Amino acid sequence: MNNFSVNPIRYLKGKIKLPPDKSIFHRALVLSSIAQGKSKIKKIHQGKDCLSTLNNLKLMGVRIEEKKDGLLVYGEGLRGLKEPVDILDCGNSATTMRLLSGVLAGQNFYSVLSGDKYLKRRPMKRITEPLRKMGAKVFGREDGKFPPLTIVGGKLKGISYSSPIPSAQVKSCILLAGLFAEEDTSITEPLKSRDHTERMLKYLGGDIEIDNLKVTVKAGSSLEGEKILVPGDISAAAFFMAGAIILGGSELKIIDVGLNPTRRGFIDILIQMGADIEIIRQKTKCEEEIGDLLIKGGSELEGMVIEGEMIPRLIDEIPILAVVACFAQGETVIKGAKELHFKETDRIKAIVEGLRKMGANIEEKEDGMVIKGGKKLKGGECESYGDHRIAMALTIAALGAKKKSKIKDVECIATSFPEFKETLKSISV
Ligand code: S3P
Repeated sequence: MNNFSVNPIRYLKGKIKLPPDKSIFHRALVLSSIAQGKSKIKKIHQGKDCLSTLNNLKLMGVRIEEKKDGLLVYGEGLRGLKEPVDILDCGNSATTMRLLSGVLAGQNFYSVLSGDKYLKRRPMKRITEPLRKMGAKVFGREDGKFPPLTIVGGKLKGISYSSPIPSAQVKSCILLAGLFAEEDTSITEPLKSRDHTERMLKYLGGDIEIDNLKVTVKAGSSLEGEKILVPGDISAAAFFMAGAIILGGSELKIIDVGLNPTRRGFIDILIQMGADIEIIRQKTKCEEEIGDLLIKGGSELEGMVIEGEMIPRLIDEIPILAVVACFAQGETVIKGAKELHFKETDRIKAIVEGLRKMGANIEEKEDGMVIKGGKKLKGGECESYGDHRIAMALTIAALGAKKKSKIKDVECIATSFPEFKETLKSISV
């Protein structure tokens, strides 16, 4: 087991560029594989999660070539995938499993999806239930609740599904299955989750309609290969933004970061808390907003209440937001975030325990947490619970603590951000 031994530092300084957005990269791989013709994905994601998606697509006969500046994907069209000769190993990646399940439900073959011990505990009823409503033959442990999943693909009918939770993975699974359905397929969410699938479907020529919280994919929609530019990962940027904000004297520039409104909640909240963040060179590329961030440390931060529609806009950033809240004056309350119990680990439990071990005043709630900030962290020894975002959030907290800390079991960082340690080192002063 690898651990990080983290010494406090003074500040972060410099200019960095981050790996491509993990969420968008998964979609680029899946959608270009079922598009007609070639796609060029400009950039490569080295994280294990995206490699799981890539390897599984290759196992289904998709030719994907690695070039100097990205990937060349030879799309097989909607019906061109081949029956995989082995289990599709999704590793730690629920995105891989849930997105591929949507595609596989519509194929004329048999497939099995599995993953590591963490993924086997992730809830799958949220996709097996609507897929079954579409007529799919999908099986899993405990009647479809948990992986491994077995799918005997075939004819699908269109449905109009009301999802009980805001989840981009559920939404994407159903929209992808909808590409194969005989009628239109729509999904309505209680709150807006990230909309990368909708945007990329549109970019590749898919016939889709968006009416507020309802998204419809039209029957008979097909996709065409394209050049796809994936912006830098805002969820990876969040760790360095947080580091720069809590360490007075920091001056950091992060280049080409994705700024999709359904993903940039972390930036919006930090600005509301009083952080000094400037966004420059904003533009739209391949239907996604992108820009550079200039962050200066040392501003006085104020705690606040974070809830409602904001939660899905920063769902993956809540652990690192809890870290920032420890350095803010007053109370920060995060509510309506029950979904955190079902991530790579129970993220509410994990971040509360970790930050408490470092000396924070933080209390666990059923749907979030309450943090009383303004007290310097002392540092400590804490666990990642095999969750990449917990490991990275605690590492950043440790940079601003009084004494040396130990973060245990940090290999998991490679699922999303293998370059994390090197990038951090390059800007640490
Ligand atoms: C993701 C959606 C979110 C997020 C996850 C990636 C995606 O999960 O937490 O890291 O790429 O669609 P849910 O859809 O389960 O909310």
